[in-house]
Amino acid sequence: MEVRIESTPHDVAILAADFIEFALRVERPTIGLATGETPLATYAELIDRHRRRGLRFDHATYVLLDEYVGIGEDHPASYRRHIREVFTDLVGVPTNAVHGPRGEAQDLEHAAEAYEQLLADLPPRAIQILGIGRGGHIGFNEPTSSLGSRTRIKTLHSTTRADNQRFFPDGEPVPLHALTMGIGTIMEAGKLLLLATGETKADVIEAAIEGPITATVPASALQLHPSATFVIDQAAASSLKHHDYYREIVMNRPVWQRP
Ligand code: GLP
Repeated sequence: MEVRIESTPHDVAILAADFIEFALRVERPTIGLATGETPLATYAELIDRHRRRGLRFDHATYVLLDEYVGIGEDHPASYRRHIREVFTDLVGVPTNAVHGPRGEAQDLEHAAEAYEQLLADLPPRAIQILGIGRGGHIGFNEPTSSLGSRTRIKTLHSTTRADNQRFFPDGEPVPLHALTMGIGTIMEAGKLLLLATGETKADVIEAAIEGPITATVPASALQLHPSATFVIDQAAASSLKHHDYYREIVMNRPVWQRP
């Protein structure tokens, strides 16, 4: 596990974009994307690289972590719609190369199985981008989610629903349920890159990195992954006990290690 502490959210975005650019070098990669506010600056940086120097994205397939139940692409809070609007449409990725769990399906169990099958059929995920919820969730795997879970329906925590209310039109409640890749599904990506910025994430970041591996902090499962990197800003790093050591590791990185 690697912890990269950057000065500002902008620096977090630059480094995260470097990791994604590196993952895009293989011939037909699958790239796991996250929604939420944190990765937006990273997507903006990648769009900038596309425009400035022609960085290409159209050879890859993109998969999302999750989707609200009952919400299709015609809804403004749909994650599939959102990722197209803030990223993939702006870098020349065709719509049919962007996938997410189908929260609008009538048969949700079947939709979950179909998403697992799709992930199994695609080339292996080179990288999976993750955010982290205040309670430690990754995707929509709320506290006490099984660390071995697969794509399935989850009941959203009231704090998650309150945090995400801002993405919904006035007066419309956040759905009670979501379809989400499981923690076991997330862990199958070749690389995990968790992004966090701001002081409100400091305590949960400390718990995920330096606390025990526990289902009550789903992001602590990253401690079991052979190639997990946390890219966080100073504010999100402010509760870490081994803060100085993480900096020493980065300062003394072997030249062959990249990005
Ligand atoms: C949502 C998403 C998560 C995301 C989290 C944090 O709940 N399902 O994948 O990590 O929000 O969002 P933010 O980056 O806005 O803090």
